[in-house]
Amino acid sequence: MAFLEVSNITRRFGGLVALNAVSFDVEKGEILGIIGPNGAGKTTLFGVISGFIPPSAGDVVYDGESIIGVSPDRLVRRGLMRSFQIVQSFADMTALDVVTTAALTRRPMREAIDYAAQALLRVGLGGKEHKTPATLSLQDKKLLELAKCIATDPRCILLDEVMAGLTMAETAAPIAIIEELNKQGVTIVMVEHVMPVIMRLAQRMVVINFGEKIAQGTPDEILRDQRVVDAYFGDHLDA
Ligand SMILES: Nc1ncnc2c1ncn2[C@@H]1O[C@H](COP(=O)(O)OP(=O)(O)OP(=O)(O)O)[C@@H](O)[C@H]1O
Ligand SMILES: [Mg+2]
Repeated sequence: MAFLEVSNITRRFGGLVALNAVSFDVEKGEILGIIGPNGAGKTTLFGVISGFIPPSAGDVVYDGESIIGVSPDRLVRRGLMRSFQIVQSFADMTALDVVTTAALTRRPMREAIDYAAQALLRVGLGGKEHKTPATLSLQDKKLLELAKCIATDPRCILLDEVMAGLTMAETAAPIAIIEELNKQGVTIVMVEHVMPVIMRLAQRMVVINFGEKIAQGTPDEILRDQRVVDAYFGDHLDA
């Protein structure tokens, strides 16, 4: 049995089928990459797996149990954590407050503050604890999302475009953090548009287009897959 099993997940928004019977497995300790054009359904998929969006049909089994209907908080306490594609800022909260809030899902207040401070150091945000997220650079906002994940002691994290908008040089820090987490045994599922990065990090990839899984395989297999080439470069050229 795989660590995370996504089976026939369908999600409709009114008449729109955002996900159509999507299935794939994630093995413990692997890095799985998910790619697909804009609007393919990737963030919706993460919303379903992390308990934020109820699926219209299908099942998600995490560590041997169905997690459909389980709240995001409870899933975080079981080690399943996600990052958010759109970095949210909260008016008066500092970076330390934001990460402490994440740490509090699993620790009492005093420990949570220390743990959050350590997580910020680990992602290279030492010295920026008292800044508000809105005043951070895009790279630092993305690192803050990673710190929030780290602060919950995750066993499996879903990373939604933590490198989007960064220069190649700026991706070095998040890449190193992801590699280190994975070395420590954290299972990682990541959505990324930055192709060289995801091709290098992921052992396996799943490709989604218009809500459907159109391919899966190693990065090399994916690059040679005609359906993937068509999805990215076919009719989208004149769209
Ligand atoms: N809450 C919602 N209500 C209605 N439609 C939605 C909602 N959330 C997503 N959608 C639609 O579902 C489809 C999939 O959106 P989703 O955000 O999952 O795509 P994505 O693959 O993450 O795209 P991107 O690469 O741009 O982040 C889109 O057509 C989107 O407009
Ligand atoms: Mg998205």
